[in-house]
This record gives sequence, C-alpha cells and structure tokens, in this order.
Amino acid sequence: MFNNLATSNARSLSESVLLKRAIVVFDGGNRTLKWLDIDNRPRIIPAFIKQFEPGFDDPTPDDHSVVISAGDNHFCLGAVARDMRGTPVFQDNKCELAKKLVLAAIEPHPGSSAVVVQRLVIALPNSRNQADIAELKKVEGTHQFTRNGQRITAVVHEVKPIDETQAAYNFAMKRDLYRSKRQLNGVLDLGGGTGIGRLYSVGGSLIREADAILPGTYDLARRISARITPQLTNSPDLSQIMDGIERQDFTLGTSGFQFQKQFEICREQWLSDIRAELRSRWNQWMSEIGEVLVIGGSASLAEPLEEATKGRFKVARHSQIDRFPQLISLLGMTAG
Ligand SMILES: Nc1ncnc2c1ncn2[C@@H]1O[C@H](COP(=O)(O)OP(=O)(O)OP(=O)(O)O)[C@@H](O)[C@H]1O
Ligand SMILES: [Mg+2]
Repeated sequence: MFNNLATSNARSLSESVLLKRAIVVFDGGNRTLKWLDIDNRPRIIPAFIKQFEPGFDDPTPDDHSVVISAGDNHFCLGAVARDMRGTPVFQDNKCELAKKLVLAAIEPHPGSSAVVVQRLVIALPNSRNQADIAELKKVEGTHQFTRNGQRITAVVHEVKPIDETQAAYNFAMKRDLYRSKRQLNGVLDLGGGTGIGRLYSVGGSLIREADAILPGTYDLARRISARITPQLTNSPDLSQIMDGIERQDFTLGTSGFQFQKQFEICREQWLSDIRAELRSRWNQWMSEIGEVLVIGGSASLAEPLEEATKGRFKVARHSQIDRFPQLISLLGMTAG
C-alpha cells in the first residue's frame, strides 16, 4: 500500500516535472520573432502573420514557420506566412499581435501534449503601457490550441512583460560587457521597427527622461526607397530593401536592381540623425555616460558610429554566439 502510494506520488511528481517549464522567453519584434525553444536553442523566424482557411490553403510548418489553430482562429507565422503574402508585423501593431505571436513559443516537452508555464517573459517597447500589458495578461490562464499539428493544452501562470532594452542591459551588466560600472551606461537597440536609446543610472535604474525613440531600419529602408523609386516602375517593397541590406548584396528581390550606392548615402544620413537626436536628448548626461551598447539585428550598421565615438557606442559582440546583437535581449530575459 505504502509502496504503491510512493510509486504513484513519484510518478505524478515526474509527470508534473515533465509538464512544467519554469520560464519561456519571447521577443516578438517588428521583423523577427525570437524565442528559446525547449532545448534552450534560439529560434528566429520572419515576423509575418497570415490567416488561413483550413482545408483550403493549409500551410506546412518548417524550421522557420509555425502553424497555429486556436478555436476558429487559424494562422501561420514565419517564412510560410511571408511566402503566402501575409502581413509583415511592422505594418501592424506588434503589441496587439503579441498574444497570437507568443503561441509560437509555447511548446511542451517532447512526448507530452500539455505544458505548464510558470513564467512567460515577453519583451515590450514600453512595459509601462497599460493597454499593451492588459492585452498580454490575457495570455494568462488555460489555452487549447494546435501548434504544428500537435494539440496542446497550456497553462500560463504569469505573463511578465520586460522593456526591450532592459533584458540586454541586465545581460551586459552580468557578463561585464560595460567597461565601467561606475558610470551611466546605455543601450541603443536598432531593430527592424523604430530604434530605442535608453540610459541606466549607476545603480541600474532606467532614466525615463532619457528615453529616445529613433529612426530604425524601417526608416533607413524608407529613405532608400525614396531615392530608388524614380528608377523603378513600382515603389519597392520595404521588406525586400531590408532583406537586401541583411544579405549585404543590396539587391532588390529577384529584380537584380542594385541599391548599394543609395544605401551608403542613406546610412550616413540615418546615423547622423540618430547621433544628433541622442546628442540633444542626452545632453545633460553626456559627461557621465560610460558606454552605449548597440544591439538589435541592425547593430552592425552602426559601426561607423562606433568608430566616430571611439568606442563609446559599442556594437555588441560575442565570439561564441552567432547573431549575438539580435539575441542579447532574449538571453537577458532568462535571468532575474
Ligand atoms: N547582418 C545584418 N546587417 C544589417 N542588417 C541586418 C543584419 N541582420 C539583420 N539585419 C536587420 O535587422 C533587422 C531585424 O533586427 P531585429 O531582429 O533586432 O528586429 P526586431 O526585433 O524584429 O525589430 P524591433 O525590435 O524594432 O521590433 C531587420 O530589419 C534586418 O534587415
Ligand atoms: Mg527587437
């Protein structure tokens, strides 16, 4: 009897351990959706969403795509959504979409169809925006949905929003990426949507008045578009311009049209606007600032800024982590 009880307790304990995920982290950006999978591996998929009609245009999941059905809501995310001409997240509101997008990251352990998520950490541009938080909090509770053909029951105990730059700052402080902890340090996030510049006090508090919203890669693409449109029959797709910058072939889709010259000019103007904006916004703290860590997928585009400021603006680098500037936020979200 006693033995039976012990065995059944042990079994339910091991079952609940199997179900439980202490933390799931998700960074749903304007251009890429990022999360750590069940094996703690970073996943990066294109930020596109497409509704579909089951039985009519069923998408197939792959390494860069996720297919979700939740009630009457059927949608796919990632490469397949892009290929099916879905909506790019940057054309929508990523905070409103977040509660759908985040389902991509909610994955049970292999062999299980249920998962209990203790803490779901979601990056937000401004974690003080009550409307955004209220939307995300709706994810707390029990969900039944199908993810890549697998029926899942998920219980999410707590949704924890975190400011996009905060996680990167935490990671940088923990790993001593800033030269000095006795000065103000900052983060400049050059993602796919708008850029964000933020400063943190010596004690690690966010200095709200120093918040700077800056033109991001999207804006850079718009500038390039304005220059090349007169030479084209249709105005170019901004996603394709951003893809060309990322591939560093500066070619527009399959057209073979090259925009490297326009890119160089626009990048210089874009960086000088960012610098001017930060100079005026951060004027009163200038003498106290140690370093500003440049993160986000487009961080490498700020290398001229790094040179011009003799390293005060420092592009995030890591010898062992591929795409580190794009992943640093995600990595910082797992701690604390
Ligand atoms: N090697 C590269 N060189 C230049 N740009 C790049 C490179 N790799 C990625 N990018 C650009 O980085 C952007 C994506 O970065 P990231 O994933 O940080 O954005 P996001 O988090 O989706 O956007 P946001 O934070 O603004 O919502 C894309 O616009 C892409 O063009
Ligand atoms: Mg981002």
